[in-house]
Amino acid sequence: MSKAYEAAWQASIDDPQGFWLEAAKALDWAQAPASGWNEAEGWFPGGQINTCHNAVDRHVAAGRGDATALIYDSPVTGTISRYTYAQLLEEVGRVAAMLASLGVGKGDRVVIYMPMVPQTVFAMLACARLGAIHSVVFGGFAPLELAKRIDDATPRVLLTTSCGIEGSKVLPYKPMVDEALRLSAHQVEHVVLYQREQVTAELQAPRDIDWMDLREKTAQDAVPACVALASDDPLYILYTSGTTGTPKGVVRDNGGHAAALTWSMANIYGIGAGDVFWAASDVGWVVGHSYIVYAPLLVGATTVLFEGKPVGTPDPGTFWRTIDRHGVKAFFTAPTAIRAVRKDDPEAKFLTEIGTGKCGVIFLAGERADPDTIAWLEEKSGLPVIDHWWQTELGWPAIATCFALGDLRRKRGSAGFPVPGYAFTILGDDGQPVPDGGSGSVAIKAPLAPGAFRTLWNNKAGYEKNFAGFPGYYETGDAGFFDEEGFLHIMGRTDDIINVAGHRLSTGQMEQIVAQEDGVAECAVIGADDPIKGMNPIAFVVPRAGAEADDTLAARVVKAVRSELGPVAALKTVYIVPQLPKTRSGKILRNLLRKIVNGEDFAPPATIEDASVPQMLVDVVRG
Ligand code: COA
Ligand code: AMP
Repeated sequence: MSKAYEAAWQASIDDPQGFWLEAAKALDWAQAPASGWNEAEGWFPGGQINTCHNAVDRHVAAGRGDATALIYDSPVTGTISRYTYAQLLEEVGRVAAMLASLGVGKGDRVVIYMPMVPQTVFAMLACARLGAIHSVVFGGFAPLELAKRIDDATPRVLLTTSCGIEGSKVLPYKPMVDEALRLSAHQVEHVVLYQREQVTAELQAPRDIDWMDLREKTAQDAVPACVALASDDPLYILYTSGTTGTPKGVVRDNGGHAAALTWSMANIYGIGAGDVFWAASDVGWVVGHSYIVYAPLLVGATTVLFEGKPVGTPDPGTFWRTIDRHGVKAFFTAPTAIRAVRKDDPEAKFLTEIGTGKCGVIFLAGERADPDTIAWLEEKSGLPVIDHWWQTELGWPAIATCFALGDLRRKRGSAGFPVPGYAFTILGDDGQPVPDGGSGSVAIKAPLAPGAFRTLWNNKAGYEKNFAGFPGYYETGDAGFFDEEGFLHIMGRTDDIINVAGHRLSTGQMEQIVAQEDGVAECAVIGADDPIKGMNPIAFVVPRAGAEADDTLAARVVKAVRSELGPVAALKTVYIVPQLPKTRSGKILRNLLRKIVNGEDFAPPATIEDASVPQMLVDVVRG
């Protein structure tokens, strides 16, 4: 047990306002906050701040302009480039001037549909500088998903590139942007497109503008000043899967977010000015927002922006080579990525040969880390491997081993302990706390710590629903338990969310798409265990009368999910079945389906409508 962790957690619970006001002193405030928290304004009411100033300008002003801020390492293009803080300021300033020339200002939304290139980071920080609200959309989503986000966020401008590069595939982005804007009701004033050398996109004036042309045109414009924002003014909207087909726009504030991330770098990850930190995620996800872009820069560290995959770019040694090459001190990835590396290099020959340089610790998150993967990684790397848990809604880890507070307690299969700021309780269906050892819904006492969401964009009711199931608590949607030593174990979701290769997806949304396909009478989509991706979606489809012999149905279902949700959904298996297992009241027994595809033992409930269905399904799945 670490006394420092214990003391920090207790202080954060006994006096949250004092604890976080102290943490907020690490930031530059245009106006110091009047207090720590109030119900109406959230964290740091009265405070005025600009996140870009704290992540960029102030480091240059403090004489650290020559320190490296960003390393772009792109094995897919054979590029490594570095930006000092002074250069980052210049680049961010130019994009801010470009956006300002298009009329973008405080409160305007800007959708960023861009891959892992430095311009994406410049764009996010430029929005933060202006007080504009960015909404980054992950490249693996289909145009319809992009369109939904455009309609919800109603941006003035959409920033994009001519292509993304996924391993060996070059994916043109402009056709997807055009299609999304064809599908969306809302229309942007401008699309600003950065042409990459792999693809030249066609632009339609006056809507579409070439990024570099605009940069040149505004080259003489003064760099817009950082706009002082209220602490709870939005920094960004990040859409995540909810239980319906409509994505939830998680709104992140400026003040609480900056304070929480800064605290986490010092106390969880052990990273400060001059250290190199690498989160091998994507800027389209919350991990990318928090730990590729904002947190490392807020503390004046160097962040690595890696445009590649754990394997195949060019080999399973790419993680270790990148860590070694740049002197990474702490590394963060998803368990699925390690499983992919292990599959291609089971003996860890690359890891043994290359080593892990100056790296002292590896963090995993995004999905449950299976004990076997942790054991392999710890054994082969010789480093402590720390699983930690969080969600898009929270913005930073809520369960972890606070490594930088001297805590090294780990138990494989557990995500660690409540992070300071978070009081967890396991609740039973009756809303009452479950004694330690018993499983139930993982809930967090309200109000949530700084950095966590305080609303959903255009959907306050949707936000409030998270607190309605168990009054006074935030319902995480995960099930889990505390063990006798205080370790918190996350067992899975209580809703229809699944985690595919570290990507959060809704099976309910997939079911909506599948159900609309011609010839489908009924369907169920479940997450089946997968040795690499953790989970994979699998669809069971009952054809409409007359469509039983249609051998195009399964392929059409796969295609529909891919084209409506995106390739990232990775639905590849469809079972055409005459019937779904149901209770007598008509409820589909998804858990039974899950057990059948996982090859687990199952006992159909007494309420099953037709007791012959499970065996029929076993035969279909095995056949
Ligand atoms: N843009 C466009 N397409 C994308 C994409 C992106 N940013 N990311 C993924 N896709 C596509 C892939 O090309 C693939 O398409 P395909 O069906 O045409 O081959 C599909 O989406 C599924 O991709 P993915 O889930 O990445 O599977 P994979 O088999 O290509 O790779 C892993 C498997 C494990 C190597 C990879 O998923 C991985 O690196 N995961 C880690 C994820 C992560 O770090 N998440 C952050 C949480 S902290
Ligand atoms: P996302 O919002 O995409 O970050 O997904 C959040 C969800 O991913 C959580 O609610 C969990 O279900 C799952 N998750 C994230 N990290 C972990 C972890 N370390 N262990 C278990 N599940 C995790």
